[in-house]
Amino acid sequence: MARFRLFLLLLLALPPQPSSLPWPDTAQGTMAGLILTALEKATLFLEDRLPAINLDGAVGFQVLEVQLKGVHEKWASNPLLQPLSFRAEQLAKTLSALLQKSIFYLKQSDPTYLREFQPSIQPGFWKLPHAWRRTNASLVYPWLEPLDSFSEESSDACLVQLLGTGTDSSQPCRLSNFCRTLMTKAGCSGYSLSHQLLFFLWARMQGCTQGLFHQSQHYMDVFCANMMELNRRAEAMGYTYPTQDLFMENIMFCGMAGFSDFYKLHWLEAILSWQKPLAGCFGKPDAKRELLEGTPHRQGILRRIRRWEKLFTDGCSCHNTATAVAALGGFLYILAEYHPDNGEPHPPTQSPESDYQDGATMPEVQRIGRPLRVSS
Ligand SMILES: *[C@@H]1O[C@H](CO)[C@@H](O)[C@H](O)[C@H]1NC(C)=O
Repeated sequence: MARFRLFLLLLLALPPQPSSLPWPDTAQGTMAGLILTALEKATLFLEDRLPAINLDGAVGFQVLEVQLKGVHEKWASNPLLQPLSFRAEQLAKTLSALLQKSIFYLKQSDPTYLREFQPSIQPGFWKLPHAWRRTNASLVYPWLEPLDSFSEESSDACLVQLLGTGTDSSQPCRLSNFCRTLMTKAGCSGYSLSHQLLFFLWARMQGCTQGLFHQSQHYMDVFCANMMELNRRAEAMGYTYPTQDLFMENIMFCGMAGFSDFYKLHWLEAILSWQKPLAGCFGKPDAKRELLEGTPHRQGILRRIRRWEKLFTDGCSCHNTATAVAALGGFLYILAEYHPDNGEPHPPTQSPESDYQDGATMPEVQRIGRPLRVSS
């Protein structure tokens, strides 16, 4: 990885380039190529393990498919970007076919969980953000509840209510008092916090606007400010396993919620360096497989990830890979947003506020029948 790190650092150190340079030859173009290569490898992993992939794994790749379609849409009109655009389009098509197939396996392994959460792997559910914003540090909690203060079961039950996929045949966007209290509770951290954000993010995807959901943006501002704080701490502590998983989940969720400051170049560099070069997956950094049950706070995290986590014997993790590809897809999308068609290229962290297209309203992705050209 050392050579790779050096390469990225060199890219970051490059002086600003004249916008007359063809975009694929810029640092941004090189980065887009690196991200695409990582995503193509991860997709081979998905294909290889498809029968064993759980639903949470599939969700990450569904988000990636949406991001790739958005990227292709932005690049398709620029002849210089044809090779990159073609790769994004091909990958989105491959994913679409694989995800269709995965439903067959998920039906067999856990039909109830599939029924409850199927909307989240359905095409059209996830939409790219309408506009970018940044987190506001003054919303960071001055104190925290004990780590992961609510259970996975409660959080799942509230998401099922929201999606309207329970057995009581109720409408989507329903909100019990229990869920209102749980999902707006202050001082949460870890996966409790990321699931509070997910709840309001899915409310947006589902089109819930009544009652509490009037204030969805406010809660998302609060939760993502705190998720940013946790990610900064994870970085400061050297991204120790299993913190990487939550770190990438926070980028995936807050990125899809429109917070551009989660797309930091050095975070991109870190995530790319975690990919297992042979398997193409993300997971446990080394061969040690004993569970980390030594310390209570680690037990807390493991208790929460047990149900939806699936760890293969080679250390590949379904959930890690899912959050990684959706985080990387977000990096690619924000790069595509800022290619110099409309001005200077911006590295991800310097992205200004701008409006951008909603994935749901995009016209049908155009087929391009051109052969793949080798980028110069
Ligand atoms: C950040 O949040 C605080 C507290 O709600 C608010 O007063 C401030 O205007 C916000 N800053 C920005 C830049 O939005």
